Amino acid sequence: MRQKIVAGNWKMNTTIEEGMALAQSLLERSSEIPQRVTMVVAPPFTHLYAVNQQIRESKIKLGAQNCATHENGAYTGEVSAQMISSVGCQYVIIGHSERREYYGEEATILNKKIKQALSSGLIPIFCVGERLEQRESDHHFDVVETQLKEVVTILNPSDFSKVVIAYEPVWAIGTGKTATSEQAQEMHAFIRKVLAQHFGTLSAQTPILYGGSCKPSNATELFAQPDIDGGLIGGASLQAEDFLAIAKSFPLT
Ligand code: PGA
Repeated sequence: MRQKIVAGNWKMNTTIEEGMALAQSLLERSSEIPQRVTMVVAPPFTHLYAVNQQIRESKIKLGAQNCATHENGAYTGEVSAQMISSVGCQYVIIGHSERREYYGEEATILNKKIKQALSSGLIPIFCVGERLEQRESDHHFDVVETQLKEVVTILNPSDFSKVVIAYEPVWAIGTGKTATSEQAQEMHAFIRKVLAQHFGTLSAQTPILYGGSCKPSNATELFAQPDIDGGLIGGASLQAEDFLAIAKSFPLT
């Protein structure tokens, strides 16, 4: 049975007070998180230490939204994987489409980041996904396959076994437009097939999350699909009520 995960990507939202209040609301209701579901919150860097103090004794896990390509040194403004790990994070999001699009993060950079994350003991949540014009021109499978092959399939099997994948069609992120459960399942099955070509049966254990306007009203249908193992949630993770509802949207068996 694959791990079920809901990860909240807060992006560049919340002041420290707001972020701590959100974490507190999740904490107070953490008994509602189903036993077999792992809940991860990924606040901004500035909030990680404080949020870790709040949730460290609970079942909620901490993640960061990015990490540096280097281990340490003269890289003004960067935050290393080791620093992230040292404030209590277990996860780090790598290759989010906003990082790819606005900060020019391409394969060379993402390879370095994933290696830094793994060598600091962090679990990378590696994001892939096509843009609208790529889907409309029927290139979505090629795009996602390339994104996987540039970074994930070149890992050794032991490193690969730690990785979580998030499929996030760019056209669905923050737009209110969700992929249908059929579109998402089709891509998730494709991703697992590509991973299986490289890693064989190991890929059966890889959690593949869906992201892009996932909310309480569509999570149940998405999470019922056989290859969808949870969600990477943006907007809806900023409301404790909604995020908890999403965490409770997995099928019972
Ligand atoms: P969204 O963002 O849920 O607000 O669409 C998802 C993401 O970017 O991870």
